[in-house]
Amino acid sequence: MVLGGVAVAGIAGLVVSVHEPALARIARPARENFEADSVRRGEQLATLGDCIVCHTADDGAPFAGSRPLRTPFGTLYSTNITPDELTGIGNWSEEAFVRAMKNGVARDGNHLYPALPYEHFTHVTDGDLKAIYAFLMTRRSVSRETPANDLLPGLGFRPLLAGWKLLFLRRGEFEPVMDRTAEWNRGKYLVEGLAHCGACHTPRNLVGGEERGREFDGGVAEGWNAPALDASNPSADRWTETSLHAYLKTGFDKAHGAAGGPMGPVAEGLSRVDDADVKAIAVYVAARMQAGKDRNILAIDNAVEAETRFPQGAHLFQGACAGCHETGSPMGQQGRPPLSQLTAVKMADPTNAALALLQGLPATNGRDQLMPPFAETMSDKDLADVLAYVRARFSDGPAWENLKSLITTARLED
Ligand code: HEC
Ligand code: HEC
Ligand code: HEC
Repeated sequence: MVLGGVAVAGIAGLVVSVHEPALARIARPARENFEADSVRRGEQLATLGDCIVCHTADDGAPFAGSRPLRTPFGTLYSTNITPDELTGIGNWSEEAFVRAMKNGVARDGNHLYPALPYEHFTHVTDGDLKAIYAFLMTRRSVSRETPANDLLPGLGFRPLLAGWKLLFLRRGEFEPVMDRTAEWNRGKYLVEGLAHCGACHTPRNLVGGEERGREFDGGVAEGWNAPALDASNPSADRWTETSLHAYLKTGFDKAHGAAGGPMGPVAEGLSRVDDADVKAIAVYVAARMQAGKDRNILAIDNAVEAETRFPQGAHLFQGACAGCHETGSPMGQQGRPPLSQLTAVKMADPTNAALALLQGLPATNGRDQLMPPFAETMSDKDLADVLAYVRARFSDGPAWENLKSLITTARLED
């Protein structure tokens, strides 16, 4: 099915412009060419766009690329976007940079994969993109070649992407909605553009395009589920402007817990940008989620039944988890939410809870590590037992199925 879809996209590609012109190399612009003001603004905007998150390898210099990004179609490597002339974008003109961000075309005319979220960056104003260019061109240049991508057979052929864009790339500058506040509009501009929240929170079709009409309905990112950011969000407590603001800015909210997995670096970035922008994002997302609509908030704790059904899980929980997660533990007393409040425990799909246990919740936003990883200390069966217990005890949803095989697979992919 996937390959069929790509073939259709490819045929469509033959009808549109498969070839984009190469834009001329320029001599690398001197730092003095850029206004300090626009470099500063560019830094904020680049942070909102998470450029550093994708374009920095675990062992590498900032923006020098080579970070592997796993997709259903294989592994892509982010490129070097430092101003190095040979391996980075030092020879790119402002025009070439803006074209890459809005149309997904590299300086040499090659189509770029939508792993660079140009489905969203296409809505960013030229003025903002030029500020990001000024910021990047004044970074330290680092020489680092990008490894070759490792994609499914056939998909390395970039002209196919022309067809993909024809089907899925909706260009067009952001248009403010007149009867909404300036703050809501600023939030919408950032969420749909630079901050590309939908790149993770919107479901994708078989060929990797975001599904129209299902914006923010919940998607997948690096194996994690990115929960729905609309009225169907499964959280036990309703999200409000205030709780969204806290979660986005600090990576933690007292009614919803911590930002785990790929949401951690997003919140880390947002902790460093202008607070008014984070507030605007919270205002816009809260409106989408219909915050304020009341929910039945049940602090579920079926301790006795859960222990009867999953004695082994209950035993493991006492040893490994209760010190932090038991009612009345020091963590609970510090105003941390009980497990029954966490979306990861409420979701029908256990993936996020399983990944949080395997990987832990690492330090972000200048805090210490929140939860240690259990991948080394607990077997797949132990983890499955303890999760079955957690689900039975802290949620009223149906039991999680096939936990052990899910954990075994997640471990292999990690
Ligand atoms: C979700 C991950 C991700 C994010 C976020 C991201 N990029 Fe990228 N970017 C990539 C990948 C992957 C590629 C390589 C695509 C390809 O090979 O076709 C890329 C390619 C590029 C290129 C083309 C470079 C070249 O040599 O061809 C530029 C320019 C670029 N990104 C700039 C940015 C900027 C600026 C930001 C932040 C505003 C950003 N990217 C955010 C993943 C990302
Ligand atoms: C790189 C992928 C990615 C991007 C980009 C991203 N998110 Fe997330 N988000 C996630 C994942 C994964 C989770 C689940 C985290 C967990 O289980 O701890 C999440 C969780 C959340 C939650 C908590 C939902 C709940 O009910 O617990 C909110 C709110 C949220 N994201 C808002 C946003 C906003 C707003 C943006 C854009 C500014 C954004 N996210 C960008 C991946 C992403
Ligand atoms: C050192 C303290 C600590 C220990 C031990 C610990 N946790 Fe956590 N756990 C946390 C913190 C902190 C969070 C983030 C949410 C919060 O702040 O309440 C969390 C979050 C979670 C989440 C939600 C993950 C997400 O993506 O949002 C689950 C599920 C969970 N813990 C289960 C467990 C289980 C099961 C164990 C035992 C095997 C365990 N924890 C042990 C501190 C701990």
